[in-house]
Order: sequence, then C-alpha cells, then structure tokens
Amino acid sequence: MDQNYTVLRHNQHPEISASPQRPKCYQICYRCHGYLQLCPVGEAFIQGESITKELISADQQKIYLVSAYPVRTGQEKVSNMVLYIQDITEKRLLEYKLFESAKMASIGELAAGVAHELNSTLTAIIGNSDLLLRKPLSEDKSTKLLTDIRNCGQRSKKIIQNLLTFSRQDNVALETVLINDVVKNSLSLISYQIEKNNITIQENYLRNIPPLLGNKLQLEQVVINFLLNARDALQKSENGTITVSTTLTDDIKTRTTWAVVTVEDNGEGISKKNLNKIFQPFFTLRAQTGGTGLGLPLSLGIAQTHGGRIEVWSELGKGSKFSLMLPL
Ligand SMILES: Nc1ncnc2c1ncn2[C@@H]1O[C@H](COP(=O)(O)OP(=O)(O)O)[C@@H](O)[C@H]1O
Ligand SMILES: [Mg+2]
Repeated sequence: MDQNYTVLRHNQHPEISASPQRPKCYQICYRCHGYLQLCPVGEAFIQGESITKELISADQQKIYLVSAYPVRTGQEKVSNMVLYIQDITEKRLLEYKLFESAKMASIGELAAGVAHELNSTLTAIIGNSDLLLRKPLSEDKSTKLLTDIRNCGQRSKKIIQNLLTFSRQDNVALETVLINDVVKNSLSLISYQIEKNNITIQENYLRNIPPLLGNKLQLEQVVINFLLNARDALQKSENGTITVSTTLTDDIKTRTTWAVVTVEDNGEGISKKNLNKIFQPFFTLRAQTGGTGLGLPLSLGIAQTHGGRIEVWSELGKGSKFSLMLPL
C-alpha cells in the first residue's frame, strides 16, 4: 500500500474481499475493523520501523500476527508499506495444550515428592497420637506432643496447597514476583526428588532483587524444568551437584536490567549437535525415562511471554548451565 493506505497489490485470500478500484487496505481486509487492538500500519508509517503485533478478533475467536514492513524507495522517507497477516489461532491453541500436558507430566513428578513429604508428617502425627492415647501424660508432655501434631498438620496442608495451586487452570494472571521466592518455592516442591538421587543442591541468592511483573506459577514451572533436567543429566554421576543462583545483570545497550536465575549441573552435558535441538518440541534423549521433550520449549515460551529469554551453556562430559533472564 502507499501512504494513503491505497492497496497497490495483494494476494488472493478468502478473507480478502473482491477489490473495488484502487481499494484502501481497510476496505478489502474486513478483519481490520474487527480487531480488539489497533492495526500496526499507522504506527509503522510514523516510526519508519517494522512493527509486529498479535491482534485478537473482536469476537475473540481468532488470533492474528500482523506485521507492517515499511518500504523506502530512494531516500529516507517511507513511501510504502507491506502488510502481512497470519492466522496463528491454531498455533496458540496447540501451544496452550502442550503447556497443559507438560504441566501434567511435572505434576506426576511432584506427586511422588508430595507423597514422601506427607508420609513423614503423617508418621509424626500418628506416632504422637498413639503416645497420647496409650497412657496419661503430664500436661507439659501432652502440650509438646499436641504442638507437634498441629505443626505437622499445618505443614501437610501447605504441601497440598502448593500442589493445588500448581495444577490450577487459570495461571496466566500477572502479579509482582520476587524471583528468589520463585526459586525457593520450586525447590521446596522438588528438592526431595533431587536429593534422593544423592545429588547435592547449592543455593546462592542475590538479596534484594527488585520485584518484576510476571506469573509465579509459570516461572516456577521453568525453574522446576531446569532442575528436573539437571537431575536427569546427573543420573550417572558420582558427585552430582546442582547449583541454583540468582543475580542481576545490566544490558548497557538496551539499558535494561535483567533478573537471572541460573541452574548449573556437573552432569553429562549436551553435544554441539544436540544443543541446537533442545528447544524443539518433542526433542528428548530421555524417552526411556518418560521424557516428553516439552520442558524446554515450554520454558522458552514462558520466558518469552515475560519479555525474557533463556541462555544455555553446555559441554559434553562437563555439565550444563541454563539461565532464565527476565527484564525487571
Ligand atoms: N541440564 C541438562 N544436561 C544435559 N542435557 C540436557 C539438560 N537439560 C536438557 N537437556 C537435553 O535437552 C533435552 C530436552 O529437554 P526437555 O525439553 O526438558 O525435555 P525432556 O526433559 O522431557 O527430555 C533432554 O532430553 C536432554 O537431552
Ligand atoms: Mg525436561
């Protein structure tokens, strides 16, 4: 189209109506009146840079990826615009389903840990009640046993609450997030799963990281994925160690500060060849032990919806380091 939104050339598509003479783009692309947000063309003309936006149709049934690419013929001034509209509804739905299924897989992992945790608290509760029932005790002793029972009961309740929030459906709300709490919560859910494999966990927190806007449960899912992957990579190791750390880093070029969560292991590492594939859905070297190959692609999706990214360092035989980077 030109600067007056007059369409110079377009492809044939069922959603583009038959063209009148020299149509305006908003005359032939009937969707554009039906978006919930503004089409990026106008903005791209003003800014002179390509802009891509996800737009939702007014009936909320469709999601479009709309890209506007400025064209400069000759000098600086933008003379034309190429508009490219992609229906990504199916893709988004699929991603959502993948996210759900990977979540179910990690819930399975969690359940084993929860069973163990509940087992120990319940053992204490039953043991103490037995003592209380068997013979009369001094008031001091009874109080101590009863306090123990109450504490164990409360701990059980907390464990179950964690599991429930984790499996909840509506988990995309944004909230202020303290990244250290996200890491500690993730560890509290699965550290048993890790330590029973004779793996040492080291924790290294930078204090006073400012809060960021995000979704706690999704971010926990990323950290849990990193931790479970590290554990898997340490199955054959003698002195397996996982180091979990948080820190801040400045990107001078874009003037942003990032909160960084790093999970490092001294396990089997990843070959150069496979390093390019680990973020592909369904790529897994753990098919025998129930790997789905969904952990990392979903983690990447979550990082990106938070405006962040994932950085990986790995060397075969030495270990791996996965960092979740989130803009403050
Ligand atoms: N810390 C790690 N050390 C070695 N390999 C890893 C590590 N993290 C991920 N990988 C590799 O990346 C693959 C994909 O990981 P992921 O997407 O979480 O799926 P899954 O764990 O179900 O296989 C794993 O199968 C493994 O080969
Ligand atoms: Mg995994």
